[in-house]
Amino acid sequence: MVRTWNGQFCLKGIMSAADAKRAVEIGCTGIVVSNHGGRQLDGSRASFDQLVEIVDAVADRIDVLMDGGVQRGTHVLKALSVGAKAVGVGRYYLYSLAAAGQAGVERALGLMQTEIERDMKLMGCTAIGQLSRDNLRFR
Ligand SMILES: Cc1cc2nc3c(=O)[nH]c(=O)nc-3n(C[C@H](O)[C@H](O)[C@H](O)COP(=O)(O)O)c2cc1C
Repeated sequence: MVRTWNGQFCLKGIMSAADAKRAVEIGCTGIVVSNHGGRQLDGSRASFDQLVEIVDAVADRIDVLMDGGVQRGTHVLKALSVGAKAVGVGRYYLYSLAAAGQAGVERALGLMQTEIERDMKLMGCTAIGQLSRDNLRFR
């Protein structure tokens, strides 16, 4: 299917390094590390918990994105610091949409931007490219 598409191809729902390597093998240009918001298997590990090993396995060959549980600026910054190229949100915008329509989504995105900028200042970072695992301590 990837070859038939003959363009950028992003596979969503990757939760293991083995599947990430398979995505590279079949020609994907990107993956989304995702457990689909934990809505299928409530005992599934969080996407963020799988991110390090997947980034280490394939990020030199494929774009690695992630989603799942992102609710605030620090969540975005942690994922980018580990090595994700981008972060997605699902319920974060859906809840604001349900509560207050377009204005609610705009408010939520504004809050997210404020948090990301404030948190980067607190870390002494002036650009996304300065984020790295040095910012993080794993328990
Ligand atoms: C109501 C709803 C429906 C969804 N349907 C799909 C779907 O059909 N296919 C899919 O890959 N992910 C689906 N997702 C998962 C989202 O694409 C995304 O991975 C998830 O919401 C990210 O987690 P978050 O909500 O914690 O940000 C759905 C999520 C929600 C909340």
